[in-house]
Amino acid sequence: MPAPTRVLQRPGAIVMVFAHEDDLVEYAARELATLANDVVDARGRFDWTLAGGSTPAVLYRRLAREDLSLPWSRTHVWFGDERCVPPGDPQSNYKMAHDAMLASAPARAAHVHRMHGEDDPAVAAARYEQELRDACGLAPGGFPAFDLTLLGIGEDGHTASLFPGTTAVAVRDRLCVANHVDHLGTWRLTLTTPTLSHSRRVWVFAVGGRKRGILGDVLGGSAKTRVRDAGEIARWPVLGVRPATDVVWWVDEAGAGGLG
Ligand code: 6PG
Repeated sequence: MPAPTRVLQRPGAIVMVFAHEDDLVEYAARELATLANDVVDARGRFDWTLAGGSTPAVLYRRLAREDLSLPWSRTHVWFGDERCVPPGDPQSNYKMAHDAMLASAPARAAHVHRMHGEDDPAVAAARYEQELRDACGLAPGGFPAFDLTLLGIGEDGHTASLFPGTTAVAVRDRLCVANHVDHLGTWRLTLTTPTLSHSRRVWVFAVGGRKRGILGDVLGGSAKTRVRDAGEIARWPVLGVRPATDVVWWVDEAGAGGLG
């Protein structure tokens, strides 16, 4: 199995660099399958939050193949964010994950927790928050501890739908919120920074040359020696996601070429 060509250490992060996307996908898929089975063996259930956008689709297609033997019957699938569109809309993160993986994998429908992008944004966010509380048995003020959260990163440093300059980035007392993204002229649903940060593991996927600039910003330069400050987190919200374990960045050389 193709291994990373380089593994870079950063304060609070590990960067796995692969020559090609195919190598990254194969390695990550096998790592995820092993993790999922280990977690189910240890605690009987695997709670996994999916990234949206386009990058993860190829990984989801690989994960749907039965040779990996994911413990689907004991897996709960959550979403990090959703566009405020119906589930059949081409823009829907649920549709992307469904078409790439969930339609062909034996996931239990009751264990696929979709954000209802078709509903009023504030109502849908509150509903998802309650679904998380109920499914994870959370006490008031508690946060879910997903076994794994997958994230992407936009070229502006956003992750999930935590876009720079939007109100959701600073929210600390909610699990899920509706977030208006002015430059897109649209509402989004997103898990909040503290919710994402309470994940036991966070993996960020960034593939392709168009991610080279933002990866240089968030993982290059002074990121080699210090954790970023509040101003940098506001500028690049992905840096605000700080689980207790190192964030694992999955990148290809096309995106990470400039990182040393
Ligand atoms: C979304 C995603 C978002 C995504 C980044 C990267 O709803 O768009 O959740 O955070 O991960 O925008 O998107 P690409 O993978 O398409 O580059």
